[in-house]
Amino acid sequence: MIVCVCNNISERKIHHAVNAGATSMLELRAGLGVGNCCGKCNSCAKTILRESLQAQAQLAPLALVA
Ligand code: FES
Repeated sequence: MIVCVCNNISERKIHHAVNAGATSMLELRAGLGVGNCCGKCNSCAKTILRESLQAQAQLAPLALVA
């Protein structure tokens, strides 16, 4: 799904950025450009960022066991 139409940023790109270490909208904006034009995607991008960080946090304990 395309989240940011202005910059052609998909949900997948946001997940990849989080997996690469992004933890905030500032970092997503700097790294991907999401939300830096009209800003209409900010709310959706924040939701995806939050979900991605939560998913990563849930997987972290499993990584320690493996
Ligand atoms: S849709 Fe993301 S900046 Fe316009």
